[in-house]
Amino acid sequence: MTTATDNSNNSGPRHYLQVSDLDRKTLLSLIERAIQLKNNQKAGRPYRPAIDKVLGMMFEKPSTRTRISFEAAMYRLGGNVVFMPSRDLQLRRGEPLKDTARVFSRYLDCIVVRTFGQEIVEELARWSSIPVINGLTTEHHPCQILSDIMTVVEYKGHELEKLKIAWVGDGNNMAHSWIQAAARMGFSLYLACPEGYEPDAEILKKARDEAGSKIVLTNSPEEAVDLADVVNTDVWASMGQEDEAEERQEIFRPYQLHSALLKKAKSDAIVLHCLPAHRDEEITDEVLEGSQSAAWDQAENKMHIHRSILEWAMELQEG
Ligand code: CP
Ligand code: NVA
Repeated sequence: MTTATDNSNNSGPRHYLQVSDLDRKTLLSLIERAIQLKNNQKAGRPYRPAIDKVLGMMFEKPSTRTRISFEAAMYRLGGNVVFMPSRDLQLRRGEPLKDTARVFSRYLDCIVVRTFGQEIVEELARWSSIPVINGLTTEHHPCQILSDIMTVVEYKGHELEKLKIAWVGDGNNMAHSWIQAAARMGFSLYLACPEGYEPDAEILKKARDEAGSKIVLTNSPEEAVDLADVVNTDVWASMGQEDEAEERQEIFRPYQLHSALLKKAKSDAIVLHCLPAHRDEEITDEVLEGSQSAAWDQAENKMHIHRSILEWAMELQEG
């Protein structure tokens, strides 16, 4: 059995809190393993190494894909899931994260967390003796990016360093995960963001120090999309930014991914959107439903990559 390999000599739990936690080899092997698991599933071969394992999912924000695909992934691996909306935990009444983490560690084998600040997943990981996986924070969405790159590999092959990937829109959690992935995997990343909505300067600097000049930040969607192999966007107001949604509508309008903009990309470019999409805001219905859209494969791939991540994190082996 080929499994993704750990990147560290550290014998502690295998946390995955942001893309930069893992080295290139581990990230690529998680993707390769997901492709293998997908093929095995399509061939009808069951694989249940997680019998008797329990995954906890602590979610403080809504989710359709991440929640259901992690649950389906764990069940397909033969394991069990406890879904824990944060509002139902004693956390809401002030119990410290460090106590919550230590108690979870006595019951569960792995935790997926969706929350606000990155410091929350970091604090949980600090006190957990089981792996903590980031299922989205305000700053990062590291599992999503792996299903996105898996989709790129399926459509464009393994030579990622030859690709130009465009990001059009907000410098948000997804943009940060793309930036860290570019640094690790060597593709060219062009981000077009409105002034004042650029990605975090420190994340960008660290990635650029690692990747040289391949990460370009511009205010021009046309420059970002020009001859791109992959064109990517996301909502203009992320979860937690609902109060800013109206103001952002105006500011982001020139950053809509529509067919005229997409025409500037290579003719065989694919379109990615992590979903949920707001049609005719950040992306037109025509583009999302068009022949270049890979968004539905991308959504499916979340389930396969989550099996790969869970297998790696819990160091699963079929008995
Ligand atoms: N792409 C993604 O994370 O979707 P959900 O918010 O539905 O989980
Ligand atoms: N940037 C979006 C991604 C949703 C999957 C958000 O954080 O709401």
